[in-house]
Parts: sequence; C-alpha cells; structure tokens
Amino acid sequence: MAKQDMGALQDAAEVAAALVLEGYADQWVEGAIFPREMAFFLARCMTEDVSVVVESGRQDGYSTEILGEWASRNGRRLVSIDLEQDSARAAACRQRLAHLPIELVKGSAYEEFGRWSDRLRGERVGFLVDGPKGWPAISMMAAGLGDNVRLMAIHNLTIGGSERAFFEQFGGAEVFYEAALAESGPRWHELCEREIDIAIRAGAARSLEASSLGVLVLDPERRRRVRGALRGEFGLHQPRVVRALWWLGAYRATTKLYGLSYRLLGR
Ligand SMILES: C[S@@+](CC[C@H](N)C(=O)[O-])C[C@H]1O[C@@H](n2cnc3c(N)ncnc32)[C@H](O)[C@@H]1O
Repeated sequence: MAKQDMGALQDAAEVAAALVLEGYADQWVEGAIFPREMAFFLARCMTEDVSVVVESGRQDGYSTEILGEWASRNGRRLVSIDLEQDSARAAACRQRLAHLPIELVKGSAYEEFGRWSDRLRGERVGFLVDGPKGWPAISMMAAGLGDNVRLMAIHNLTIGGSERAFFEQFGGAEVFYEAALAESGPRWHELCEREIDIAIRAGAARSLEASSLGVLVLDPERRRRVRGALRGEFGLHQPRVVRALWWLGAYRATTKLYGLSYRLLGR
C-alpha cells in the first residue's frame, strides 16, 4: 500500500474506532463480528467512499447497529438481509434497530444479493457477509460484482482455510487489519484494549490472536478476476452461473441452486 493510502486508512480507522468506542464495543456478544473488525470495515468504507453497504447476516443486530449508526451520521445507506428464521429474535432485533434508517430485508441472501446488486448500480457499494459463510458467500458476492462495487468483506476466514487463502491471493495480507493497520493511532489502541477485556470477560470462543474479517478492496483487475473465478469449491454455484440466473430474474432458482449443489456435491 502506498504511504499516502496507509495514512488515509489510519486516519479513517481512528474515526471508526471512536464511533465503536461510543458504547458499541461493550455490547459485543458471542457470534458477532468483533469491534475492531467492524471498525476496520468502516474505515475501508470511508477510504473507498462507499455510499451503500449491503450486509447479509444480522442476527441480533450487533454489526447492523454499528453500520446503521455510521450510515445515519454520514448520509450513507445500509441494506441488511437476514433469513429471520427465529421470529422472536428477529422482532427483538428490529426493535433494537428501529431508531436507525436501515432497509431491513427478510429473505435468502442468495436471492436478495441479486436483487440489490441490480437496484444499486448507481451507488458505490460495499458488501459485508456474515451469513451465509464460506464459499457460498464468496460466490454470491463475486456474482454481484458490478463496476460500482468498491469492496467485499466476509467474516470467519479462519487460519489455514482455503477461503482465507482466496482473499489473500487477491488482496495480500492487507485484507486483514493486522497488516493494513500496522501503524495505528490512540483510539485504535484504546479499542484494542477494550476488546481484549470484553472478550476475556465474555469467555469468547473465537481467538483474538488473528482477525477473521477479510476486506478486499476492488480495482478493475481484481474485480474482473474475482467475477470470473472458476473453482471446484464453488460446486454448482459458480459466480457466472449465479449471475446468469439473476440476470434472467430467476432469483428463487438461485437459492435452489445453492441447495442442490450442497446436496449433490457437499459444497
Ligand atoms: C453469525 S450471525 C450474524 C451476526 C452479525 N453479523 C453480528 O455481527 O452481529 C449469522 C446470521 O446469518 C443469517 N443467515 C445465514 N444464512 C443466510 C442466508 N442464506 N441468507 C440470509 N441470511 C442468512 C442467519 O439467519 C444469522 O442471523
């Protein structure tokens, strides 16, 4: 990364860390994206001038509330997709988020990513996926990569996993904050200390040794290569097949394709 870009990211990370420190770090719950991971994602949205975030996987709304707060303060938009299979949990989450201007969508991300990618062609978009996970989530994002998509991010990229290697192949170690923010400021350090404290108190299952949210910033060459990727791990849901179904308006069939791929090929 050029020195100037590194400085811009560091400044953005200070702003993002300050926002997360406004009470959000302490609200972290098991299963949610860690506070520093959220701050890193926001910092990348700032440096890439993202105007709309499309999130999939909100559960109790931890990540969604932070994104919604950032969006409402900065004149940005947030679309948040979830299956909402547990209706009581979904209702509590909607209540938690009621004060924020968020487009809350109930449905399968395999369909909704297609619909929203199409509707948001005129915006500068950032993708954040935390459900579904793994290769299905990657192929879904890759299928939605129009020229207007500035970055794509996915949670739970565990060390040694092939999905993590895929992200690093395109974006290098800088897809994770440890490398991208090798030099960081006082608010980032404060957030780091707070996060360690909270994770210890909560007996967090995930380690804080290495972050698992990969954020891939897209330039035309990366976008072209990710969109066109053909991988065995995608099974039947190769990005170009998913994109073709969306282009035909066959959104429901897309969810079925992912289900069929899992049943026939286990992926
Ligand atoms: C780990 S939780 C998300 C936690 C949240 N991002 C946070 O940090 O607070 C995963 C969520 O993904 C949702 N999910 C899983 N598969 C999905 C799919 N195919 N479409 C939409 N949502 C999905 C689940 O309903 C669940 O609420």
